[in-house]
Amino acid sequence: MDHFEYKQGEMHVENIPVRKIAEQVGTPFYCYSSETLIRHYKVFCEAFEGQDFQLCYAVKANTNQAVIRTLAKVGSGADVVSEGELRRALRAGIPAEKIVYSGVAKTEREMAFALEAGIFQFNVESEPELHQLSRIATNMGKVAAIAFRINPDVDAKTHAKISTGKAENKFGIPLSRARAIYAEAAKLSGIRVQGVDLHIGSQLTDLDPFAEAFRRIASLVEDLRADGHDISVLDLGGGLGIPYDRETSKPPLPIEYGKMAKKIVGHLGCKIIIEPGRLLVGNAGILVSKVIYTKQGENRNFLIIDAAMNDLVRPSMYDAYHEIVAVKENKVASSVYDVVGPVCETGDTFARGRTLPELASGDLLAIRSAGAYGAVMSSTYNTRPLIPEILVKGDDYTIVRERPSYDDIIELDKIPEWLN
Ligand code: LLP
Repeated sequence: MDHFEYKQGEMHVENIPVRKIAEQVGTPFYCYSSETLIRHYKVFCEAFEGQDFQLCYAVKANTNQAVIRTLAKVGSGADVVSEGELRRALRAGIPAEKIVYSGVAKTEREMAFALEAGIFQFNVESEPELHQLSRIATNMGKVAAIAFRINPDVDAKTHAKISTGKAENKFGIPLSRARAIYAEAAKLSGIRVQGVDLHIGSQLTDLDPFAEAFRRIASLVEDLRADGHDISVLDLGGGLGIPYDRETSKPPLPIEYGKMAKKIVGHLGCKIIIEPGRLLVGNAGILVSKVIYTKQGENRNFLIIDAAMNDLVRPSMYDAYHEIVAVKENKVASSVYDVVGPVCETGDTFARGRTLPELASGDLLAIRSAGAYGAVMSSTYNTRPLIPEILVKGDDYTIVRERPSYDDIIELDKIPEWLN
């Protein structure tokens, strides 16, 4: 079940009609359901019941403070990839001891900030990064707890732009180099080796690549222990996919993922960390937009809406499919549309040849599964203000990010003296 359902002929988010929010806030906007966020968090925890386990939400998927805090309150940790994300996670109430820091190239300043904060673990991705971390931690009189991100060289069978676990990708340390780099790390000051980390890609809809990667990592843990390292943490990364198209796509459920993971790595007795992003927030959010015009082309019917590629870039960037529904319930899907935004690029297209109820100027649409990698990847291209974000809880909702004014955006620019 989800919390975006039709009641009395119109779509609700939990108990609030989408139309009501649109009337009060204006379109377009993102709208998230607290209950859905919490439910997704809980299903993952249930999937790992019986294990020493910590879910570290990959905040990059949706960094709104209210979203992070909703998850923090039920016990979530965070996976961050920049100082900015680390600051957001801390500010939203995630304790430093539940934070892991991933990312291919942490800078000196970022390392120092994270050491000062006292995070749980750095996921180190290269030898130069290891040496820099050792130097900074030593200078600060601190010890960095680390795992190495291992690249297990498996094909995640997902979109090329979000596949990260093949040898040709820029991520992690090759499995063949792993024992040597752990040996090197053990000799360095300011470093305490505690774990192994991997992340093979995003929107995986098949468990096999995960299983293969986990098997390779499990055997590495045994080798590392034989080499004398105390490996107590296993970070399995994120990546479990969601059904963007509820009709045709049935990715594995968290419970199945957990069962598979426990079977392969459970016997190692490590604390298991997972870093899901999309699965927690993707289907907890919609983008609500209004039809500006309908337009009859030579042989296509365009639905031009007030959201655009700058608000949700996934369709134009990854050819991603997002379900689009009318906010007013109408079971008769009778018209075929290309759903497009107002930006002057053909890539500004949300869907082609989509069958929908007949719609007219002023009608509301919801683009589903927009909670992950939606607002966070948006921009002000075409000087379109970032759109508001709304969080619903039961009968209440709050604007958790306001729509900036045009002046707010324009005044970020400064005119040099010599042009005055
Ligand atoms: N851990 C690490 C180290 C990651 O790089 C990522 C995502 C995650 C966890 C979370 O993965 P998830 O559970 O969300 O699949 N913008 C793209 C997705 C990029 C994913 C990047 N890394 C999209 O819109 O599909």
